[in-house]
Amino acid sequence: MAANKKILFLPGDGIGPEVMRQVGRVIDWMDRRRIVTFDISEGLVGGAALDAHGVPLTEDTLALAQQSDAVLFGAVGGPKWDNLPFNLKPERGLLRLRKEMELFANLRPALVFDPLIGASTLRPEVIQGLDIMIVRELTGGVYFGEPRGIENLPDGTRRGVDTQVYTTPEIRRVAGVAFELALKRHGRVTSVEKANVMMTGVLWRDEVQKLHDADYKDVALSHMYADNCAMQLVRNPKQFDVIVTDNLFGDLLSDCAAMLTGSLGMLPSASLGAPDSSGRRKALYEPVHGSAPDIAGKDMANPLACLLSFAMMLRYSFDMKEEAGLVERAVQEALKGGVRTSDIQQAGTARVSTTVMGDTILRELDKLA
Ligand code: IPM
Ligand code: MG
Repeated sequence: MAANKKILFLPGDGIGPEVMRQVGRVIDWMDRRRIVTFDISEGLVGGAALDAHGVPLTEDTLALAQQSDAVLFGAVGGPKWDNLPFNLKPERGLLRLRKEMELFANLRPALVFDPLIGASTLRPEVIQGLDIMIVRELTGGVYFGEPRGIENLPDGTRRGVDTQVYTTPEIRRVAGVAFELALKRHGRVTSVEKANVMMTGVLWRDEVQKLHDADYKDVALSHMYADNCAMQLVRNPKQFDVIVTDNLFGDLLSDCAAMLTGSLGMLPSASLGAPDSSGRRKALYEPVHGSAPDIAGKDMANPLACLLSFAMMLRYSFDMKEEAGLVERAVQEALKGGVRTSDIQQAGTARVSTTVMGDTILRELDKLA
């Protein structure tokens, strides 16, 4: 049995806690099977932390996150906290974690599961076998650039400012992650910006190309404007292997790519920092879907994105490829067996609750192990 690994659970708001509970069940299953034992601690984030402590992330929770081997994050936000001042919004908790842990590389796979082809709004032949990896820069760009703010002008009008800013090292480190991933996949990277109108885009294109020419000649690199990329994702998504792009474009394009697969409820993500001297990266794993307040607490949410995020944790943080594959196969098998939460339900399949989807996953794990 491998040594204990420290995981911090941050379930957050809305459906976060209920989808994460299903991961807890899979971890118990692994524990019973003596596959691995995790030390799990739990903290509050987002609205849950606001209610308890008046801030979306406490210093204690941040310190716990910094010390853990990996963080599993649920979701944040909801109508209850919508009208708070900007700096107290639940989302600030997540953004602060990303920034303070320096999780600069956000991996968002968009994978189409065969049994779910009918759940996409696109024609089956366009998306069958789709397997894209979007690498989104996560700690820079317009999300964090200074100056930012809203000022009152003498004439009584107001002026809002955000700053899009990138430096050479910020671009190169995220591009490096994309090239490394491409080498283990199909060897292609599409770098996405708007070099036709933005100076950060010009720099981005230039630096990605330079890194490629110096260190990654074996990868086929192409460049694409972000607006065209949005269009190409819907027109012919299978042309892509790895897409690397900035924080804001990555936010938009990853939602677009997510919908190709039929449901946000299926998509995991990993946010990774730079490796330290022992090769360990700080890491946070989260389902791409949000807190879905409309269905929270109703045992209706799809836990598969959270389970697949846990599988990414096993793969990227703990190098447990076999166990990651086991969880991923259990998800495949459950879908093949015809069970669906309401977000991915189609005619001829059984609509099940979050808990029953969890039961099904455990049964499939029993069969596979
Ligand atoms: C995401 C989300 C976040 C973002 C929000 C919740 C701050 O949309 O992870 O894609 O914009 O980064
Ligand atoms: Mg988003």
